[in-house]
Amino acid sequence: MKLTFPDHFMWGSAASATQTEGASQQFGKGKNIWDRWFELEPERFHNRVGPEHTSQFYQNMKEDIPRLVATGHNSFRTSISWSRLYPEGTGDINPQAVDFYNAMIDALIENGITPIINLFHFDMPLAMQDIGGFENEQVAHHFARYAASSFRLFGDRVKYWFTFNEPIVHVEGGYLYNFHYPNRVDPQAAVRVAFNTLYASALAIEQYRAQEQDGKIGIVLNLTPSYPRSQHPADLRAAEIADLFFNRSFLDPAVKGTFPPELLTLLEKHNLMPSGLGQACAVIQRNTVDFLGVNYYHPRRVCARHSLPNPEAPFTPEYYFDNYTMPGSRINEDKNWEIYEKGLYDIALNIRDNYGNTPWMVSENGFGVKDERNRIVNGELNDDYRIQFYRDHLFWLHKGIAEGSHCFGYHVWTFIDNWSWSNAYRNRYGLISLDLQTGSRLVKKSGHWFKALHDNNGFDY
Ligand code: BG6
Repeated sequence: MKLTFPDHFMWGSAASATQTEGASQQFGKGKNIWDRWFELEPERFHNRVGPEHTSQFYQNMKEDIPRLVATGHNSFRTSISWSRLYPEGTGDINPQAVDFYNAMIDALIENGITPIINLFHFDMPLAMQDIGGFENEQVAHHFARYAASSFRLFGDRVKYWFTFNEPIVHVEGGYLYNFHYPNRVDPQAAVRVAFNTLYASALAIEQYRAQEQDGKIGIVLNLTPSYPRSQHPADLRAAEIADLFFNRSFLDPAVKGTFPPELLTLLEKHNLMPSGLGQACAVIQRNTVDFLGVNYYHPRRVCARHSLPNPEAPFTPEYYFDNYTMPGSRINEDKNWEIYEKGLYDIALNIRDNYGNTPWMVSENGFGVKDERNRIVNGELNDDYRIQFYRDHLFWLHKGIAEGSHCFGYHVWTFIDNWSWSNAYRNRYGLISLDLQTGSRLVKKSGHWFKALHDNNGFDY
């Protein structure tokens, strides 16, 4: 069966500034929270590899961009590093950053690749974190100024923008579960950070529209469908609440401009509702997205809790459910993530039916593998497992599109194996394998396969 995708479908991959650029404290860049955390606790990074040791896109950009063409990209998402453009987060612009991003955008376009630019991928400038990060409403305004400058500097050529990548992740990591700096467990702060992030996103969208550029702006959300263990009312309720906290908390305000009332009721019940939200809510309501990016790696399965929660413990959404491993599920053991391709179809139909069929793209989908360099034989990396993963997800995506969901692109994570926060190079995801010692690049079998996928605008399934 030949699966063909719509005309002008966007094929490519996603990456981010801090994960690829290297030169993390050179060429005028200010520190961000990753530079700081690595200075403080290098042992929390896999093999003690920090943000200086990335694929060095800053220096290799001219050679790497043709590799995008060789691996089937007609579009590519990366981010601007806020602390490279504004070393202090606000104040003066770093002219070297302007030169670098101009050169990158121009080289992409010269190579026939549509640039998709994101403004924030987990990388808060340290100077902004030092004044409270998104706990401080002022930082939302600083973000909007940085966004407005980016539109003014690059918006003549960049026509697809994202404000944030997976905004719930810096909330979870930094303020609930301790896997990002500032490593706090503070539900009150988490809710405020989440709220001000949405406010910052809406302010940036407002700035974009004020400049009247003929492009589109959206947000990337990691939508993780919540599946109940069974149809028992307690399991169904558990799944509904997980969905409220982990998906609808950002999806509803981003697309509809409003928060799910039940989420607000739950936050009130736990005394977590921030005060003084009126004006910010109005900004959020007025500035919904033109389109969505959806990152999908794995589903979430939940069941009713087996024990009563401790009402005195710091609140986390798990107050209302237990995570659940479905017997018989297929797991990527290296990540301990379930593989469930149909999740992408369920997302497609959810957006079609419950979110006004907003245009969207798969902005990340990928398969991380440990010690993948050991699989190189005679100079080739035959990552058939990854091709299988893409094929099966694309089958379900195609079905969702055929049934009317308005998806216009599919990006994998990622282009060249990249540095991934505290996991550093533990899990390799790239279409191209990176030799950490020499920096040399090797196109994996999936990179060649992706080129054919792009050239044929589809594949035989
Ligand atoms: C995505 C993030 O969710 O997961 C990326 O947007 C990250 O920034 C990717 O690199 C893979 O994460 P990990 O931890 O498996 O390497």
